[in-house]
Amino acid sequence: MIGLIDILYTDEQIKQRIKELGEEISQEYRSESLHILCILKGSFIFAADLIREFDFPVKIDFLRISSYGSGTTSGKVKIMDDIPFELEGKHVLIVEDIIDTGNTLSALLNILKKSNPASLKICSLLHKPARKEVEVPIDYLGFEIEDKFVVGYGLDFDERYRNLPFIGIMKG
Ligand code: IMP
Ligand code: MG
Repeated sequence: MIGLIDILYTDEQIKQRIKELGEEISQEYRSESLHILCILKGSFIFAADLIREFDFPVKIDFLRISSYGSGTTSGKVKIMDDIPFELEGKHVLIVEDIIDTGNTLSALLNILKKSNPASLKICSLLHKPARKEVEVPIDYLGFEIEDKFVVGYGLDFDERYRNLPFIGIMKG
């Protein structure tokens, strides 16, 4: 399995970057009550590691969104659950695996904003600026990457490879 994939970021590099993000986010939200909204499935590993770097208690909920079929090109954005909590007056941080065209998060932001959260920010592990179709404000970013399809650390190709401990580029 690993022979088909070139390593882009090792587990050590990811760990180090998440530590830095955790410190940055802790500084901003330490005195607030923060509600994390983890976007499934891709962000489950990132969110689990990120929240363990926070030095304050945090609430977390999950929302399943799908925007890809089984290929590597962007499809229709589908929000598969009801918004899991009342957002009004809350400080909400969306945790996403990757922002590619921006369509998924742009659609989600438009929906969430209607509920008047006290603040609404985005933390994404990865960003592919070359493929941007819609501008999405990324408040916290792990790594900016080239226009390559990546897998591992929660990200899939056709539902596989989420369990790789590193982030890699599919060969071929
Ligand atoms: P966007 O709507 O085009 O920004 O797509 C965002 C979603 O597409 C992400 O949450 C991922 O689930 C998926 N995605 C985009 N690029 C990749 C990739 O390189 N590998 C795996 N999934 C990706
Ligand atoms: Mg995703």
